[in-house]
Amino acid sequence: MKVTVIGGAGYVGLVTAVGLARLGHDVVGVDINQQVVDLLSTGKSPIHEDGLEEVLTKVLADSRLRFTTDIAGGVAEAQVVFVAVGTPPHVDGSPDLTALRSVTANLARTVAPGTVVAIKSTIPVGAVSEMHDTFNTLGATDIEIASNPEFLSEGSAIRDFFHPSRIVVGTTSERARAVMRELYAPFLEEASHIQLDVDISRSVPLVETSAESAQIIKYAANAFLATRVSFVNEIAGICERLGADVTDVVEGLSMDPRIGRGYLSPGIGFGGPCLEKDLQALSYSAAIHGYQANFLEATLRRNDDQINHVVNRAIALCGGSLSGKRIAVLGLAFKPGTNDVRTSLSVRIIDRLQNLGASVAMHDPVAMEEAQVLLPGVEAVPTPYAAADNADLVMLLTDWPEYLALDWSRMSANLRSKVIFDGRNALDARACIAAGLRYHSVGRAPVQS
Ligand SMILES: NC(=O)c1ccc[n+]([C@@H]2O[C@H](COP(=O)([O-])OP(=O)(O)OC[C@H]3O[C@@H](n4cnc5c(N)ncnc54)[C@H](O)[C@@H]3O)[C@@H](O)[C@H]2O)c1
Repeated sequence: MKVTVIGGAGYVGLVTAVGLARLGHDVVGVDINQQVVDLLSTGKSPIHEDGLEEVLTKVLADSRLRFTTDIAGGVAEAQVVFVAVGTPPHVDGSPDLTALRSVTANLARTVAPGTVVAIKSTIPVGAVSEMHDTFNTLGATDIEIASNPEFLSEGSAIRDFFHPSRIVVGTTSERARAVMRELYAPFLEEASHIQLDVDISRSVPLVETSAESAQIIKYAANAFLATRVSFVNEIAGICERLGADVTDVVEGLSMDPRIGRGYLSPGIGFGGPCLEKDLQALSYSAAIHGYQANFLEATLRRNDDQINHVVNRAIALCGGSLSGKRIAVLGLAFKPGTNDVRTSLSVRIIDRLQNLGASVAMHDPVAMEEAQVLLPGVEAVPTPYAAADNADLVMLLTDWPEYLALDWSRMSANLRSKVIFDGRNALDARACIAAGLRYHSVGRAPVQS
């Protein structure tokens, strides 16, 4: 099929564009970011994602994908136009729909009658009706809209595209449903005979519902994941005070098949571009419709408290004050496998540490440039060992595999005070202790030789 992805240079848009092209569709990625469009057209991606550049190179070579900034030219022949523009939060938590509104007005003037517009962006209930109104007002009456929320996880986005847990299509339009079924056919049971030269999941469940339900499925999924993180962090805090070990607690807890293991890793809290923003947006939507989402609000508050807790731990480990202390921060991306630092808790924590008088040496295997934009005054160092140089405390905030394999004797030799705070409970405590470090983590008693 002929497909266009608006916002095709962003995280979701780019993964959607290269993934659909790899399935054999003819795809155009449209984006307003000329610089990134030029870069992507050469096969280079500014987004760090496992396997992304390989698929990008292949689909460009096969002429299945091209990028442009020209929306009119980009959508002229499309049967399906995906919209994957950002929906960042306003200060009150409501989603900023400026990009979506601008794209909607542009599409009304440019797409051919009969086109299906599929919304990948996470948007609140009401936004699809508003799009319909705009299309009608501008005379584009023959456009169908489907909400098709995205569930990919940064760090495994390409794998998630080819192996989705489910595909959700929210629309009342029979035509839009049929077009979306055709587009995603390789994933569906009825088309399992289709031969492909790429490994994908077959018989993926298709959830066909209203646009409203599709949107709430997306928000509820992120709210649930965030809730699990806040829950386990609360349990970790209780363990710290009551002398239990949260690792053992989670092990015993997660063996219950009703509970499972996902998103139950204690740590510094949830960061990244989606969980906090989507919780805020869902809570805001509830509030303006007269419903107080107390539980979601508590999940957000628990996350803010977790950051306070981590900063307080740093103060305590530095002897009661951060003034004049040097702290090595390992990990700036909001999770391993990505160079995304949007709403990364590392960035927030570094900011707080500095405001409290510490100087920070920061390191990340892939996200240094991105972090430096948000933290321009902070010393960025080329290796974790350089970060440890004369530091009073090492804080591990993103559990990159590189950090798990560090030579702790070498790290320890460089440190002024032999203290480490493992904010992800990811390191081998024994290796740290053997290197002469005092090892502190989340929800567990400190360990030292
Ligand atoms: N990043 C994720 O992990 C993830 C996962 C699921 C859903 N989502 C949702 O998907 C949406 C996009 O998120 P993202 O992380 O990909 O954002 P992003 O900022 O990485 O990408 C958005 C892209 O849209 C482009 N853009 C903005 N205005 C435009 C316009 N008028 N015309 C054309 N292009 C325009 C931007 O230049 C950018 O490249 C959001 O609603 C987000 O909540 C994100």
